[in-house]
Amino acid sequence: MMDRPLVLVGMMGSGKSHVGKILAQHLGLPLYDSDAMIEQDEGKSVARIFTEDGEAKFRELERHKIQELLALGTSVISVGGGAITTPEVLREIKSRAVSVWLDCNIDVLFKRTGRNKGRPLLDCDDPKGRLENLLEKRRHLYAQADITADSSGEDVEEVVRNVQKALYAYYDIA
Ligand code: S3P
Repeated sequence: MMDRPLVLVGMMGSGKSHVGKILAQHLGLPLYDSDAMIEQDEGKSVARIFTEDGEAKFRELERHKIQELLALGTSVISVGGGAITTPEVLREIKSRAVSVWLDCNIDVLFKRTGRNKGRPLLDCDDPKGRLENLLEKRRHLYAQADITADSSGEDVEEVVRNVQKALYAYYDIA
């Protein structure tokens, strides 16, 4: 059915990695996680890349990695929450992939991101305010995705089902 990579976009804590893993299994496609691959290539965590090399350097690594992944053919790709803030990345995702925005409410994002550390942009006095602010700035970019699926619910299988349904409709074989 699919003729292009499927790219999951959305805020930190929206469930991209978890949903991506299950979705890739259901669809029988390889799964790529751009942050995990950058960490592997660089031999250090995203948090360390931010502190030692700066966010601009991270965005450059991210842009290269996503371009590389988009060229690998049909797959499920989960990208970091800020990837679409790089105009070239958003353009490439729009032209070479089917994109899915995992839209999720702030309270859930806050709860989920509180569970695991290692997100440099939330390492501040008011992480919830920071999340709100980032979402405010990015919403119009996420909204350019081909498909929007709510991922606020606890049941990840249901989120995956909703994404698949929307995907079938997108390819018009529902
Ligand atoms: C970021 C999100 C993170 C990671 C980096 C920056 C962002 O990925 O790429 O910390 O700008 O929203 P997740 O969305 O997977 O947490």
